[in-house]
Amino acid sequence: MSDLNGRVAIVTGASRGIGRAISLALAARGATLVVTDVLTDAVGAFADELRSQGVTAESRTLDVTDSASIDATVAGVLERFGRIDVLVNNAGIARDQLLMRMKREDWDLVLRLNLTGAFACTQAVVRPMLKQRSGRIVSISSVVGQMGNAGQSNYAASKAGLIGFSKAVAREVASRNVTVNVVAPGLIDTDMTRALPEAVRSEWVSKVPLARFGTPQDVAAAVCFLASDEAAYITGQVLAVNGGMYM
Ligand SMILES: NC(=O)c1ccc[n+]([C@@H]2O[C@H](COP(=O)([O-])OP(=O)(O)OC[C@H]3O[C@@H](n4cnc5c(N)ncnc54)[C@H](O)[C@@H]3O)[C@@H](O)[C@H]2O)c1
Repeated sequence: MSDLNGRVAIVTGASRGIGRAISLALAARGATLVVTDVLTDAVGAFADELRSQGVTAESRTLDVTDSASIDATVAGVLERFGRIDVLVNNAGIARDQLLMRMKREDWDLVLRLNLTGAFACTQAVVRPMLKQRSGRIVSISSVVGQMGNAGQSNYAASKAGLIGFSKAVAREVASRNVTVNVVAPGLIDTDMTRALPEAVRSEWVSKVPLARFGTPQDVAAAVCFLASDEAAYITGQVLAVNGGMYM
């Protein structure tokens, strides 16, 4: 498929896991990729890999908690490509702990990275998108933001926050043909979930009607759809990719 031919897409947290799969899938549909991550070497190597496959791709060091690096990335992309068509707010972390024991710094870090980071990246790209009268913003939330999870009050708050944020921005920018949507993955097999003990992993899988972990590609397909022309009339929505874990 080449329906994203010539579209310029920025993906945050792109060097591994879901962000990497999203970047590969957007590239397979013809998009020009700006892969960004706080991990400069890893994301640089990923851009090399994309270019070796014939994709027009660049890497940028972007820490979503650092507005200077966001502004520099957006300015650099506009200078190089003249437009930004797609932003995928994918960068995210977890710092799990029961509320009673949660350190204020872990609350602050997760909110600053997962929610304020998406706010800052969205704010930085929205002006050029409004000028172009087209754009697609997709943020990666989580099933945990929809149903809660013990030990993840900070993460759940950040991911639920992304949903409210996206719905509000969707209303602000819809008249200029910019759509703002959310993908809410369930249990996906990446470094983030491989860090869980095996007993916890299998207990979680037992709660999934489709009885398996999702793959990063399952999530990437939903993002590609929302970035495509086929989703032109869809905004302010949450697309769950969770194997039926939460309906
Ligand atoms: N894996 C899951 O089961 C799952 C489920 C639901 C939602 N998600 C969400 O999907 C997204 C990707 O998750 P993943 O499983 O691929 O995680 P991951 O830990 O494998 O990858 C996260 C990426 O974000 C980058 N990153 C971390 N801090 C950053 C910062 N300050 N600025 C920019 N980049 C930064 C990391 O370097 C890494 O490349 C996250 O937002 C996560 O919350 C994951």
